[in-house]
Amino acid sequence: MEICINEKDLRVLRHFNAVAKQYDLMNTLLSFGIHHLWKRTAVNLLNLKPGDQVLDLCGGTGDLAILAQKKIALDGRTVLYDINREMMNAGRQATHHAEIRQNIDYVQGNAEIISFPDESFDAAMVGFGIRNLSRMDLGFQEMYRVLKPGGRMMCLEFSEPVNPVFRKLYDLYSFHIMPLLGEIITGSRQAYTYLPESIRLFPSPDKLKAMLEHIGFSQVTYRRLTNGIAVIHIGVKHA
Ligand SMILES: C[S@@+](CC[C@H](N)C(=O)[O-])C[C@H]1O[C@@H](n2cnc3c(N)ncnc32)[C@H](O)[C@@H]1O
Repeated sequence: MEICINEKDLRVLRHFNAVAKQYDLMNTLLSFGIHHLWKRTAVNLLNLKPGDQVLDLCGGTGDLAILAQKKIALDGRTVLYDINREMMNAGRQATHHAEIRQNIDYVQGNAEIISFPDESFDAAMVGFGIRNLSRMDLGFQEMYRVLKPGGRMMCLEFSEPVNPVFRKLYDLYSFHIMPLLGEIITGSRQAYTYLPESIRLFPSPDKLKAMLEHIGFSQVTYRRLTNGIAVIHIGVKHA
């Protein structure tokens, strides 16, 4: 059987294969550790409770899944869903939070066609993953489909700083310093030129809000983090 894969999917696959083993370290270095704070804020906004069923779409090495699993305790379940086995394995083999990781289920699959029935989850989240999809609208539609009525969706994604001076500095950092650090640490400059390019192509917070409302989410709000470098969108599926 011939498997068709488009150019963007191939690029994303190569990128995450190249960075999987150093992904967590690079995230911490490149964001000066701030991504941990962003992720904690984002998961808190989901208002998870013990016993909830949670989907972590494009979950990668599992930072968001771990934060969620801590909140939903042993009677809840977090499913980490990712297309890239290398990324999931890098997380599974990590020694920190090993006990919590044991309670996370790992499913390999494409976020554009989520392999779960309708209304399976109380909450669905995606962190720094949706911009990698060829069709991000399909990813959000699928999140909507697998949520139970009244379920909450959270999307944490990079965006552009609001302050023009800060934006210039951020451009300098992300287009020049980030790829250089990527090359020194992971040996792949290309993998880290992909990141700023994909961020620039991502819709503004207002456009993303409109897209989510069009899909059917209600009570859509967003919150900018660190002058807008990252943005959290929250939406609710109609009860
Ligand atoms: C930048 S990482 C984010 C990982 C994690 N959510 C975090 O916040 O650290 C993006 C993840 O999206 C996954 N991904 C990319 N395209 C995907 C797709 N079509 N379906 C599912 N996962 C995908 C990649 O394999 C990668 O693990």
